[in-house]
Amino acid sequence: MAEQLNEYQGKATMEKITSLAKRRGFVFQSSEIYGGQNGAWDYGPLGIELKNRIAGAWWKEMTQINDDIVGLDAAILMHPRTWEASGHVENFTDPLVDCKKCKARFRADMIPEENLAAKKCPECGGELTDTRKFNLMFKTHIGPAEDTASIIYLRPETAQGIYVNYKNIIQSNRMKIPFGIAQIGKAFRNEIVTKNFIFRTCEFEQMEMQFFVKPGSDDEWFNEWKKRRWAYYDRLGVKMDHLRWHQHGPDELAHYAKDAYDIQYLFPMGWRELEGVHNRTNYDLTRHTQFSGKDMQYIDQDNNNERYIPYIIETSAGLTRNVLMILCDAYDEEQVADKGNDDDWRTVLRFHPSLAPVTVAVLPLMKKDGLAELALDIRRELKEDFATDYDQAGAIGRRYRRQDEAGTPFCVTIDYQSKDDGTVTLRFRDSMEQIRVPKSELTARLRQEIKDYKRIK
Ligand code: GAP
Repeated sequence: MAEQLNEYQGKATMEKITSLAKRRGFVFQSSEIYGGQNGAWDYGPLGIELKNRIAGAWWKEMTQINDDIVGLDAAILMHPRTWEASGHVENFTDPLVDCKKCKARFRADMIPEENLAAKKCPECGGELTDTRKFNLMFKTHIGPAEDTASIIYLRPETAQGIYVNYKNIIQSNRMKIPFGIAQIGKAFRNEIVTKNFIFRTCEFEQMEMQFFVKPGSDDEWFNEWKKRRWAYYDRLGVKMDHLRWHQHGPDELAHYAKDAYDIQYLFPMGWRELEGVHNRTNYDLTRHTQFSGKDMQYIDQDNNNERYIPYIIETSAGLTRNVLMILCDAYDEEQVADKGNDDDWRTVLRFHPSLAPVTVAVLPLMKKDGLAELALDIRRELKEDFATDYDQAGAIGRRYRRQDEAGTPFCVTIDYQSKDDGTVTLRFRDSMEQIRVPKSELTARLRQEIKDYKRIK
């Protein structure tokens, strides 16, 4: 199975991705100098650019391409009643068991059933405790007193910030059903098992869109959003044979869901959830009506002031999990030349140019004879339109490899001919093809290349 996965997955393994991410400044362990903090990661210079671009692509898709979706940025700290209404205080739990002997802690649904039945630790064979429910919400206190009245939660999903604002948005922005509200932000879960790098963490980011529809039209909208989310990943250039749907069975459905499908991605460790599309019915708004005493009904002014509590179709993607997916999807190792020496392998991240942290690197062939100055001039111009890098250190072949490993789709090299005739070399990351382009045409050419980009491997 492992072999089959590796062949299917290409060259990526979690070890290679984690090590490249650190080496090139995508992702660092949080508080590394103190031995690291479990479940938390820091995004370095390349990582924050990649994360921002993934967030930007999603935000554009939701709020720019769709006329009927608007954005929101709600607070992480919400009134604690929110989480009673949403059902998280009561239901947002994982089943937990401990080993009495080796003290290892497991999620009961993640260990073999025979171990659970025999209460036998899968690691040391020691006796397991009874299964108990463990609430995943982080609790803290607001204000100076640490009593029950001051308890406040770090939000475990961004969705609730949207629900409590839905009437504000209808009123302020004159939205009519069907319409959506999109939000990107941090969420926190006290996960029992945090492994596989940034896949499952305690602090993470979500990109969630809640689409408010008339009851009865929810099944249709649910299917529509499934289609749109699938098409989105295709446009992003993701390997589509590494994506599949997984429908939640009755024992997997969240307490609020009528139907739910995950988009799973084939990560190096296997098929795992990337995003969920959920039909949350009118559960949340009904509960907020009950708990807040405020009327959450929609009044359909185009239809004799008909009143109803809308159904909600939710698309919920992990932003940080998307970063991991894009890194795995882009990762490749390739034998590139017939030189027969150590240099003829390269590691390359085949990011879509619209997601790459650096779009174009400018490289003078030599530092001397005015080439560096000319290259810096060209970079200054390109900076206006693209994320750029500049590198004048070392042999040009090594500089190309460094950019390949950072996923930079285009390199512009300035040589002696550039001084004579104003042309530069444009080198393409994926094919490694090089062409000469007048420097005056570079910006337009790069724009076109980004627009027309098709992944070749
Ligand atoms: N509002 C619905 C909701 O939160 P979910 O399936 O629990 O649904 C949605 O989470 C997405 O958030 C997941 O598909 C995943 O991408 C991401 N996610 C959830 N828990 C995560 C964690 N501990 N670390 C990183 N990403 C997580």
